[in-house]
Amino acid sequence: MDAKIVLLGAPGSGKGTQAKRLCQELGLTLISTGDLLREAVRNNTPLGVKAKGYMDAGKLVPDELVIGLIKEKLSGLKGGFLLDGFPRNLEQAKMLDTIANINMAINLDVDEQIIVDRIVKRRSCKQCNEVYHLEAKPTKVADVCDKCGGELYQRTDDSEPVVRERLRVYKERTLPLTKFYQDRGILINVDGQGEIDEVFERILKAVKEFKH
Ligand code: AP5
Repeated sequence: MDAKIVLLGAPGSGKGTQAKRLCQELGLTLISTGDLLREAVRNNTPLGVKAKGYMDAGKLVPDELVIGLIKEKLSGLKGGFLLDGFPRNLEQAKMLDTIANINMAINLDVDEQIIVDRIVKRRSCKQCNEVYHLEAKPTKVADVCDKCGGELYQRTDDSEPVVRERLRVYKERTLPLTKFYQDRGILINVDGQGEIDEVFERILKAVKEFKH
């Protein structure tokens, strides 16, 4: 499937969880700006050093840094792809239009109270970025990744005050993108509540039924 998808939704709505499965199922390349930025922070690269303060405070990293990352990842890429966490505002969406022909935007819809619970109980693998939840998706052995045996950690931006700020930024800067893609006739709204498998089946059905 040669789909060029952007995945939208609030922090903690399940974008990362569903993006990995969808890319596996449909044979798409996954590009997650959040994962790329966290890797840059871990490796202390010049990009990571510049991005860290914004991420820890729940703010958006400046456009020029993130746009550079996306251009690099998309240049020369063959076949379909899914962008998780990009675009995050209208400026990024307009820039994306100049380098790619996006033909589907999936928006995961989840209530705010559920989001906060999901995020504060999230644990991520330091090594492979796999994401767990203390109750909805626990590991077999506490604090050890099922996939690679890596150590789990809690993201520095997953404390409740920072989550509230990320939600505020989301509503102000990112939510308007749903209208941007709806006006173009390529928005698919999916109910992101319920079990992980259930949400995945809903997304897959909506994608397969979607007519470009
Ligand atoms: P990013 O990593 O993109 O964070 P986010 O958008 O805030 O999204 P999250 O990763 O928090 O959540 P998610 O929707 O992926 O949910 P997940 O699947 O993990 O960005 C982080 C920061 O980087 C930003 O704040 C910003 O600073 C910077 N950044 C990134 N992109 C940028 C850009 N384009 N421009 C500027 N700055 C940028 O699920 C959450 C939890 O819920 C997990 O524990 C999971 O196991 C659990 N869960 C998932 N689905 C379910 C379910 N159905 N039921 C129960 N639990 C579930």
